[in-house]
Amino acid sequence: MTIVTGVTARVPAKLNLQLAVGPPRADGYHDLVTVFHAVGLFDEVTVEPAERDTVTVTGEGASTVPHDGDNLALRAVAALRKQVRGGNRTTGVRVSIAKRIPVAAGLAGGSADAAAALVAANELWTAGVTPQRLAEIAATIGSDVAFALLGGTAVGRGRGERLTPALAPATQYHWVLAFAEGQLSTPRVYAALDRLRSAGPGGATPRDPPDPGGEPSPPDPPGPALDAALMTALRSGDAARLGRALSNDLQPAALSLYPALRKTLAAGLELGALGALVAGSGPTCVFLAASAERALELAVSLSGAGVCRSVARVTGPVPGAAVVPGQG
Ligand code: C5P
Repeated sequence: MTIVTGVTARVPAKLNLQLAVGPPRADGYHDLVTVFHAVGLFDEVTVEPAERDTVTVTGEGASTVPHDGDNLALRAVAALRKQVRGGNRTTGVRVSIAKRIPVAAGLAGGSADAAAALVAANELWTAGVTPQRLAEIAATIGSDVAFALLGGTAVGRGRGERLTPALAPATQYHWVLAFAEGQLSTPRVYAALDRLRSAGPGGATPRDPPDPGGEPSPPDPPGPALDAALMTALRSGDAARLGRALSNDLQPAALSLYPALRKTLAAGLELGALGALVAGSGPTCVFLAASAERALELAVSLSGAGVCRSVARVTGPVPGAAVVPGQG
């Protein structure tokens, strides 16, 4: 009998090709319509049996990842354990995270680590939890965790956790990521968006009380909607079309908190990118290139232009979190 000492899962970063954000909900979240896209920048998460749950983090931004119960990977393991009956299979675990996805960069690195921990612990404990049930557990950990399990390209609704895979040809897109100095907190970026919107044209908000005796206030704006032009571009596999259709409602908010990103986005477009946008809540900037060669040229030029901390070339879509075969 083989004794499994540890299981490693690999998990990709995500981009949002569209991120349409509705008004804040009563629970503080925002309804979204987003097009997630998993790209080849991976964290690796290893789980091994241990006396009690612990986590160690190495690599990109390791010192800024929580090492306690706030760690999303540890929370994911604890949530899975509650679901698994069957005695001593559910030991404590030592979780080791090797990070390449920068922390608080708009690429859902923390959510990715939670997804990888779920997949790895499910295997370590031979728990046999189904992908559908894992996705339900994932959604309780964070809005982006279910997509990190699924990977590929998918439309997300609700908080982002209700997923429909996008039917698209097997086109591989070439992206350049420009990593920024520092981090942006996702809740702060959403709050900045709410402020910008309520200060919007004329300073009135859709929630302002009606003016007594005046005109009735206008109806609430429609909820966020999927961009048909983006979906057509994805179905065509035409990178130039996709580049023109990229959009992110959080971008003005991220730029308001990190104005230097304007220069980064402008530099990438001047250097020939087919499209540019802030990744999720930022501060990473994302550029679409026409080919692998163009992506290399763009990456070299961007890093020479001094408009970012470092660059990476990635392709997408790639599959979601999966056990790395032959380890442990
Ligand atoms: O779900 P997750 O923990 O990743 O979300 C982090 C924060 O981002 C939330 O606390 C909330 O402030 C914001 N958020 C939001 N609406 C969403 C997703 C996230 O307001 N749909």
